[in-house]
Amino acid sequence: MKTPYEIKYMKSKEKIAMLTAYDFSSAGLMDGIADLILIGDSLGMVVLGYENTTKVTMDDMLRATGAVARGAKNTLIVGDMPIGAYDSNTNALKNANLFLQAGAHAVKIERKPETAKFLVSKGIRVMGHVGLTPQTITNFKVQGKDEETADKILEEAKLMDKYGCFSLVLECIPRELAEKVTKSISIPTIGIGAGPDCDGQVLVMHDILGLYGDFKPKFVKRYAEIGEQIKKAFLEYRNDVKEGKFPADEESFH
Ligand code: KIV
Repeated sequence: MKTPYEIKYMKSKEKIAMLTAYDFSSAGLMDGIADLILIGDSLGMVVLGYENTTKVTMDDMLRATGAVARGAKNTLIVGDMPIGAYDSNTNALKNANLFLQAGAHAVKIERKPETAKFLVSKGIRVMGHVGLTPQTITNFKVQGKDEETADKILEEAKLMDKYGCFSLVLECIPRELAEKVTKSISIPTIGIGAGPDCDGQVLVMHDILGLYGDFKPKFVKRYAEIGEQIKKAFLEYRNDVKEGKFPADEESFH
């Protein structure tokens, strides 16, 4: 298993591949393949069926973290702090520790460099997240397209670096800005919709497997259409049951 320290020193040496997971079985399948596993609060959408991530609770995240940690014993696991879990330093520390007790090795927070600084000072490994930050944004579009917002993102990224984060997610920003951020900070950037010049990439597992909805955002690459295969299997099972073909004698006891 790579440590946060080793992930940090992968910058400019080896690209970092992160994936999300939310359950024991999928985590087991990606264990030792992904450099890091993120239990993203995207769980709210792809697992729980909410429209966005703002209804996700610590209980939701901790249950998933335990399952992922039991499935992936050889991979660095990052727990995504849900909305409200770091609205004060006291809450942030309490909830970060709950993630660690559930099996995560580090936590991720959206923006809030001062909170990152506080957590790091208490010995918590923190991954930052800037650009499109779904917990606080209402405008789900590429961020940092004008000079003012681009400067703000760069400034936040520099603070996350200065305050001791071991890596930084850049979500949905122009590739030129992602390249500039990547060159301006000492920690690795992990992009999602931020182009190829980041130090690593992250995608939501359900997106790369075709398991969530029909809409495919521009930045997603589908590596498999598992959703279609699952539907086909469900249909075949249903038809076999209805036609009396399942169970056959080989699936029966004597
Ligand atoms: O919740 C999530 O899956 C994330 C990634 C998109 C970085 O925050």
